Amino acid sequence: MNILLRGGTVVSGVNAKKQDVLISGSKIVKVGKFINDKDAKVVDVSGKLIFPGFIDAHTHFDLEVSDTVTADDFESGTKAAVCGGTTTIIDFATQNKGESLSQALNNWHLKAFAKSSCDYAFHMAVSDFNDNIKEELPAMFEQGVSSFKAYMTYDAMMLSDEELFSLLYSLKEQGGILGVHCENHGIIKSLTQKHKNDGTLSVGNHPKVRPSAVEAEAISRLLSIAMVVDVPVVIVHLSSKDGLEMVEHYREKGCKVYVETCPQYLLLDDSRYELSGLEGAKYVCSPPLRKKEDSKALWKAIKLGQVQTVATDHCSFTLEQKSVGLEDFSKMPNGLPSVETRGILLYTYGVCKKRISIEQMCKVLCENPAKLYGMYPKKGVIKAGSDADIVVLDPKADGFITKNTHHSKAGYTPYEGVRTKGKVVTVYLRGKKVVENGELVIENKGKYVKRDKNILDLI
Ligand code: URP
Ligand code: ZN
Ligand code: ZN
Repeated sequence: MNILLRGGTVVSGVNAKKQDVLISGSKIVKVGKFINDKDAKVVDVSGKLIFPGFIDAHTHFDLEVSDTVTADDFESGTKAAVCGGTTTIIDFATQNKGESLSQALNNWHLKAFAKSSCDYAFHMAVSDFNDNIKEELPAMFEQGVSSFKAYMTYDAMMLSDEELFSLLYSLKEQGGILGVHCENHGIIKSLTQKHKNDGTLSVGNHPKVRPSAVEAEAISRLLSIAMVVDVPVVIVHLSSKDGLEMVEHYREKGCKVYVETCPQYLLLDDSRYELSGLEGAKYVCSPPLRKKEDSKALWKAIKLGQVQTVATDHCSFTLEQKSVGLEDFSKMPNGLPSVETRGILLYTYGVCKKRISIEQMCKVLCENPAKLYGMYPKKGVIKAGSDADIVVLDPKADGFITKNTHHSKAGYTPYEGVRTKGKVVTVYLRGKKVVENGELVIENKGKYVKRDKNILDLI
């Protein structure tokens, strides 16, 4: 039976208009004023905001890292995602050094298959780039992987400047895009060694070995390489004003660069590392949390269109997992849980606080990631022909965030007790109501999304 969402305000990247939405099977078939379909089940959504399903283009589920594995796998991670309105995640299939890309992709399919409660796709994180790996790239595109990731730090995964250059060169030939974790490895290593020598290894020192110059330098090096190759790139999880200024400097020179930031860099600051014991450990991530003025600059950058996407970098560990680094921050697994809270945080602290418009929220959570990562207009927009991935947000229902109602296995949320405006009440995944009154009602219906090449001209 068709479903007719009647009387809601449909949000896009350009406007928010009172419109009805008709769903047939897995697709949206009509959007407009006063739609009539006598056979449809009519759902009254008047007073509600109707968003395209949110896309989180940066998650790490079931990732082995720092001698442990993330607390959330695809089962718990995607349940958390969809309850927060995220209907598609893009996780990082990660090539271990010495492994082929097809092995890595196969591993990630096995992790996700039949366990996902929202749709999922994969970027391929390349840890080893050589002629054999280069030959595998066309097969990646054929299998729907059109975006790649490189790390400029982390011993197990980082690429050298030469490898970055040749990976970018190959992706230019094939039309793929590279997202890069930008931090200067040498500075981090040297400062960490200094703290080891001085015996100053408590959590409070974590941000001191990764000052914002570490991010800005790596951005400048990456963008110099990208300009020589003449190819667009994505900076993932941008955290600092210094990094943003470097991006703008390169844009002025004609560099084509897209930027992602995350809720933790918009809403939290480095004073959290001063909290004692495991309280401070909850916030250990890389890049680290910065100063309030960095957050302010990032909000402004979203408003000005300098930042194109907001993803979570959800990489969760329990406090027990984090505790291995309590006496030595360099041993602590890095990352935060936040896949369930991104949408409502952006609505509350972005739209309601008038830092960004509702259309900008839709751009950074839905439209832009769909365009940047080859899923538009199947995903990211409420339009005839698109997948019926829909979030119904009640702007009048206030609430607060607590781990007690969350689905992440981290056992904590960095936003415990934070007040929210509005609530994700209903979520449709390809036409199926999977979340009702904020509760997950249908599990494991997520499917793999084979992605096309990006359409950068539309962003
Ligand atoms: O601390 C973080 N962000 N861990 C996840 C891996 C990464 O760097 O994206
Ligand atoms: Zn990263
Ligand atoms: Zn990440």
